[in-house]
Amino acid sequence: MKIVAVSGSLRSESFNTRLARLMSEQAPPGTELRPLTLHGIPLYDGDLEEREGIPEAVRTLRGEIKAADGLVLITPEYNAGMPGVLKNALDWLTRPGEEMKPTFGGRKTALAGATPGAWGTALAQSGALINLRQLGVHLYPGYLRVSKAHESLQADWADDRLKEQVSKWLAGFVEFIEEGS
Ligand code: FNR
Repeated sequence: MKIVAVSGSLRSESFNTRLARLMSEQAPPGTELRPLTLHGIPLYDGDLEEREGIPEAVRTLRGEIKAADGLVLITPEYNAGMPGVLKNALDWLTRPGEEMKPTFGGRKTALAGATPGAWGTALAQSGALINLRQLGVHLYPGYLRVSKAHESLQADWADDRLKEQVSKWLAGFVEFIEEGS
């Protein structure tokens, strides 16, 4: 089984990208989880699309998503919503319009997020639901909301409780993917 986990942060020391890597480390046996970032994706601009088509970085990401059995979107929380970087990538991935369904329709998708704050990106994840509904994904109902990330997640270290939480959550997601296939 193959899962891709996309971090919505471009920051080199990002907690969300670190969480994507932790997922890769904690993936259940028989599951390859590939952590990805959104570097290289320009701001969506209809003129750019008309002039140059879909950017290479978007086409590559789309290929990764389509080849995977499951998609994890790991969102930071900015002002109670998902960051523009992540929304921008989702918008590009729905272009041209006929690509939306093959990219997202019925795709087994899970939401996660990490923040140094107290609420684990709950608001960003809730806000993302309206977009994911539009995209038509098949959403895993399990929550993974990492609060106080600076205490549990560092570049080369994660605390044991978080490791266990991530590992159980992923096992649930894998089960969810298998049930639907
Ligand atoms: C934040 N941050 C933040 N955190 C939170 O829990 N709720 C929020 O609404 C916000 N709002 C917010 C707005 C903006 C513009 C920034 C830059 C930051 C803090 C945020 O969670 C923190 O910077 C994380 O470290 C961002 O994720 P990465 O880059 O570590 O993955």
